[in-house]
Amino acid sequence: MTAKEKVNILMVDDQPSKLLSYEVILGELGENLVKATSGKEALELLLKNDFAVVLMDVSMPEIDGFEMVDIIRQHPRFQKTAIIFISAVHMTDLDRLKGYQRGAVDYISVPVVPELLRAKVSVFAELHRKTHQLELLNKELRRLSGSLISSQDEERRRIARELHDGLGQDLTVVKIMLQGVFRDDPLAKSKQPAVADIYKLIDGALQQVRSVSYLLHPPLLDEVGLRSALGWYLDGLSKRGGIDITMETQPQEFPRLAPELETTLFRVIQEALTNVFRHSRASKACVTLERKEAEILATVRDNGVGIHDEISEFRPESIGVGIGGMRQRVKELGGQLALRNAGPGTIVDVMIPITSIPSADRAVPVTVT
Ligand SMILES: Nc1ncnc2c1ncn2[C@@H]1O[C@H](COP(=O)(O)OP(=O)(O)O)[C@@H](O)[C@H]1O
Ligand SMILES: [Mg+2]
Repeated sequence: MTAKEKVNILMVDDQPSKLLSYEVILGELGENLVKATSGKEALELLLKNDFAVVLMDVSMPEIDGFEMVDIIRQHPRFQKTAIIFISAVHMTDLDRLKGYQRGAVDYISVPVVPELLRAKVSVFAELHRKTHQLELLNKELRRLSGSLISSQDEERRRIARELHDGLGQDLTVVKIMLQGVFRDDPLAKSKQPAVADIYKLIDGALQQVRSVSYLLHPPLLDEVGLRSALGWYLDGLSKRGGIDITMETQPQEFPRLAPELETTLFRVIQEALTNVFRHSRASKACVTLERKEAEILATVRDNGVGIHDEISEFRPESIGVGIGGMRQRVKELGGQLALRNAGPGTIVDVMIPITSIPSADRAVPVTVT
């Protein structure tokens, strides 16, 4: 529905002549006008179509407008549908109140002032159109943020490859050339200490290139899969961070998964462990990965200080980019992320359905030595 697309307006009145007059009054709004002469007919139409607003005659013979709205409101889909009551007889304040208690949004008395009716209906029509547009924009936003995450991954992969294969290779060549200079020129012996220093510097630089490129995109993930990549990552982390991290997988020979799923699980576990290091003051952490029939379950548990309720409730002002990103990644694959206190410590639970992932071809592996 774009700004110019029509919305549906339902007019309910047992008298066809009244319906005709509403039709004339509202005709110039250029929306789709639909008529119903009974509550039953109105319900049938409501169930089949999406209406921006319902004009409802209060006094109808079989079932009056208020009862009708009661029935409509019971249906979850119509709890927010705008309803304008039109009434000639029940116009005491009490009746107005009766109408509003039923969630009606407006009230018009007879004789109907055409301009007033038109103005009220057009406000609701516009509101409906705007709400629908907002929903579409939100959907698009979710889609875009998902593709942003995957293009971020692609970009990291590319930078990692360039760092490793480009700068890394260049440094290696420099090192070999230096070795050559030293070998071919006996006089260079006097320079041995300086050359040794240069070696050390180059080795350090090579090591840094490797670390940065691994961090940007773990090469093992493409080559040998999630379990080995995580194993490599956890080893490094345990050594550097001084926290004892264990991993259990079920089954032990953990199967390969679709690339998007492996990347998401790796990144989410990586972020959860980064949080363990940064915030938990834990001495131990445990990662579990379980392949169920139709889903993957992953947990990261620590024995640290635990988290506040605002964080486990994902209150926007409490969570940061880390948890926000984890949640978004998991959501993109139709899964769920939950954080809770383990007493002591924190548990991060991840569930991602396997069926939601198309079985894409494996990505070209990044070769890193
Ligand atoms: N394992 C944990 N133990 C204790 N606190 C945690 C843990 N994980 C997350 N938190 C809390 O949640 C907050 C938000 O985390 P996150 O969204 O990753 O942002 P950031 O790490 O940048 O602060 C952290 O600042 C921290 O207070
Ligand atoms: Mg974080």
